[in-house]
Amino acid sequence: MNPLRGARISGTGSDLPDKILSNAELAETLDTSDAWIRERTGIERRHVGGSTATMATNAGRRALDAAGLTGVDIDLVIVATTSAEQMMPGAAAVVHAELEIRGGAHDLNAACSGFVYGLIEADSMIVAGLDHVLVIGSDALSPWTDWTDRSTAILFGDGAGAVVMSACDEPSLLGWDIGADGTARHILFTDHNDTIKMDGREVFRKAVRAVMESAGAAMDNAGVEPEEITWLIPHQANTRIVDSICEKLGIDTDKAVMVIAETGNTSAGSVPLALHAAVDDGRIKPGDLLLLAGFGSGMSWASAVVRWQE
Ligand code: UT7
Repeated sequence: MNPLRGARISGTGSDLPDKILSNAELAETLDTSDAWIRERTGIERRHVGGSTATMATNAGRRALDAAGLTGVDIDLVIVATTSAEQMMPGAAAVVHAELEIRGGAHDLNAACSGFVYGLIEADSMIVAGLDHVLVIGSDALSPWTDWTDRSTAILFGDGAGAVVMSACDEPSLLGWDIGADGTARHILFTDHNDTIKMDGREVFRKAVRAVMESAGAAMDNAGVEPEEITWLIPHQANTRIVDSICEKLGIDTDKAVMVIAETGNTSAGSVPLALHAAVDDGRIKPGDLLLLAGFGSGMSWASAVVRWQE
């Protein structure tokens, strides 16, 4: 094995369904208000009516285009999702067919941290010998939302983001951390044929602690200090959670890339959606140090420190 072999992100993409649901529209049927949702979550609107597999395919195709690759170049596609349309096969099977991918395909269910888990696992697969891995986070949670429950209906939306990871001699993934606490699986779950159930306050509390510890461990493993981080790419669950994480880690809040106002919480889609937004608008530049941080149902969490390369 080449000790210098590593992976870099060679392309990014994202996709959101066309239909937009504003806070004001939600307040027409729920005992809530635009002001409450903005103030307590940072969300202004969310996209709904998406299909997990279709959004994954669209985001994946855009990431391939950005990398200058096609499906025949891809050794493996990983779709992080909790909302595949069928119990089997996974959403990755649809992406595999639509993008005519040559290699393997599988889903990864680690809820909102799934994309960061996928990124770390893709890096390991590339170190082990693969050349290109497509990692997608895609979730359509609108069909699983109880639209009469104001504690969850205000939060979730549909969306997807994707990256291509490609082999290189200068590893981009400098440090990472993964973790879980299965004893907390009752605070955020969805049963078959049911809707999302969540103890919001408890998720909030545990999320801040988990990300603080996990992101700290990833930075330690990478040998970097919080003030060296150029951009924090956090899971977009609640602006107040991100503010609290920034404060505890010692990272300026204006270094956090936020898309939550537009997207709501898109679960596995949220980290790659934010990453792509900042790549697309030119904020992320070669040499920048990124800290990706996901957390969610499980509870599960994952953090990664990435040096951005051209
Ligand atoms: O991907 C990971 C998944 N999820 C998360 O990360 C979510 C984490 N949790 C949260 O984001 C927040 O806990 C929520 C946004 C879900 C709730 O915000 P909160 O500030 O924790 O509200 P709360 O549950 O402590 O409720 C405060 C008050 C209560 O009223 P009283 O008892 O003080 O009179 C609630 O009944 O706000 C009320 N409330 C609402 N009012 C208007 C709760 N939800 C709403 C609402 N609109 N949608």
